[in-house]
Amino acid sequence: MKYLRLSFLLPFLFNFNAFIMAQTPADTGLIQNVFARQIVDLDGRWNYMVDPYENGYYDYRHQAYDQSASDRGGFYDDRKPSDKNELIEYDFDLSPTLKVPGDWNSQEEKLLYYEGTVWYRRKFDVSPQAGKRYFLYFGAVNYEAHIYLNGKKLGMHKGGFTPFQFEVTGKLAAGENSIVVKVDNTRHADEIPTVNTDWWNYGGVTRDVLLAEAPAVFISDYKIQLGRNNTIEGYVQLNGASLSKDVTVSIPEAGIKQTVHTDASGRAAISFPAKKLTLWSPGQPKLYTVTIHTAGDDVSDRIGFRTVEVKGRDILLNGKPVFLRGVSIHDENPLIPGRNRGEGDLRMLLTWARQLNCNYVRLAHYPHNEKMLRLADEMGLMVWAEVPVYWTISWTNPDTYRNAEKQLTDMVIRDKNRASIIIWSIGNETPVSEPRLSFMGKLAAKAHELDNSRLVSAALEVHRQGDVAVVDDPLGEKLDLVSFNEYAGWYWGDKPSDLTRYRFDIKYDRPVVITEFGGDALGGFHADSATRWSEEYQASLYRYQLQLLQTIPGLRGMTPWILVDFRSPRRQHPVYQNFWNRKGLISETGQKKEAFWVLKDFYDQQEKKYQ
Ligand code: GCU
Repeated sequence: MKYLRLSFLLPFLFNFNAFIMAQTPADTGLIQNVFARQIVDLDGRWNYMVDPYENGYYDYRHQAYDQSASDRGGFYDDRKPSDKNELIEYDFDLSPTLKVPGDWNSQEEKLLYYEGTVWYRRKFDVSPQAGKRYFLYFGAVNYEAHIYLNGKKLGMHKGGFTPFQFEVTGKLAAGENSIVVKVDNTRHADEIPTVNTDWWNYGGVTRDVLLAEAPAVFISDYKIQLGRNNTIEGYVQLNGASLSKDVTVSIPEAGIKQTVHTDASGRAAISFPAKKLTLWSPGQPKLYTVTIHTAGDDVSDRIGFRTVEVKGRDILLNGKPVFLRGVSIHDENPLIPGRNRGEGDLRMLLTWARQLNCNYVRLAHYPHNEKMLRLADEMGLMVWAEVPVYWTISWTNPDTYRNAEKQLTDMVIRDKNRASIIIWSIGNETPVSEPRLSFMGKLAAKAHELDNSRLVSAALEVHRQGDVAVVDDPLGEKLDLVSFNEYAGWYWGDKPSDLTRYRFDIKYDRPVVITEFGGDALGGFHADSATRWSEEYQASLYRYQLQLLQTIPGLRGMTPWILVDFRSPRRQHPVYQNFWNRKGLISETGQKKEAFWVLKDFYDQQEKKYQ
């Protein structure tokens, strides 16, 4: 991460920036690889105010304050009394602070269950440079964010797990600036996700915030991946004015250097021979430094090159059949409860997955931190990436669909250069109905349209006819894999040993990747294997599950639920749960349960089979 050079500016600067603003297209798509830019890191302690009645946004008649009117009362003005008798009923300077990135639930005892609005305020000094452009970038804010700079509204964003940005060229003050963010994590039936989830509704500015600097014309986006017939394919996109320019893509270590010329919209397709690249794989997670250059701008990225496809019942990585030895993971640190805060948290989770002898992880149920995908690239873990189209979504609401499609699009835009991602998932366990099939069918088509270089899937529904678990969910027709969650031995079937009587009837003759199975165990609770909640019960359940799943001819992978215990508002048993979902193979204290070793043994065998 590079930091913005602070330099003194000349008075003519403002009208120059105003000129740039006039030329700049309104919608600046997400800056690809924003951390490679010159940035001011805005993480750290932000002042905050809890505002359950949104008193900082509405007056006592519940009318939103009018920013232009003199009676401005919004907290976003970040004002102080001009003299000793002025009435202002808020003061960020005198308010406590929260760490950013970070959810509020895990930082303040009184906010553990809080759902509503919290105002955040950060002051920072910057001296914008002539001819440069500036973007305020948020890695994620859960759930709805209204963003203000120096009292002026920049815009709003919905969606708790995808990045967003606003161009602030010409809007920054020389010296001190104030960012105010209204964050509201209230759940709503028509949102994505909806009101009911089996994970904690962590609210807040949960990922990095930064101010990025870019030249007047810069490389705002690119896709550089290995396509079919050993060709490097994708595109480069410039942003700014007079965009028809030469752009050179170099991969020095591979002796590749290709120049393309962008059209008037600043875009150029790239397609050139990959020569003798070392392909990325879990066994050899080779990353190349790729540099993109145009007059006035350069950006570098670390990119792995690999292919993934389905052939009959096999998943082929670089043309070779692979078995996905996986585990599901939430974006949560169990040891210091709360959303993952940075690379340390993320590396801990992926290291645990590696200790399980995983070559694959399911990042459930929403886009994880961008750094998680970069770590998966580096550590050699294939990834199932997912949007939170989870359970009982409002299928007939067009705004809900647009929201789902936007979150899917932003996830693909952000992570399309990550070799580790092999599967885009459009959702989880959504109940079968016509409206749901229409909604999810469109979303599947959108995923394939956004990226034809990866597989598209979702956790499908399973239903039981006696001792037969039937997978004939019509959504399966639209997907590249057959993936589903089944909880034989926990939610249905009696004790684990009963699992021997079940079998699967799967309608689709495609690779089968089980997205969830498992059961709870309170770490450290030991009893016989028929005693629910004991580690022995969970270990027995895994043994019988693995036996049952191997009866599926097309079984090509699995991501048991789940790597580590996680917080959930739906798990109230006062002894065994205490608002924790205990299906983790590791407890929230980092203790590996018996079932961890059962699964590891199985993965050791699978690894030998697929050498
Ligand atoms: C569901 C769901 C998970 C949930 C799990 C459970 O299948 O996908 O999000 O946590 O089952 O019940 O523990």
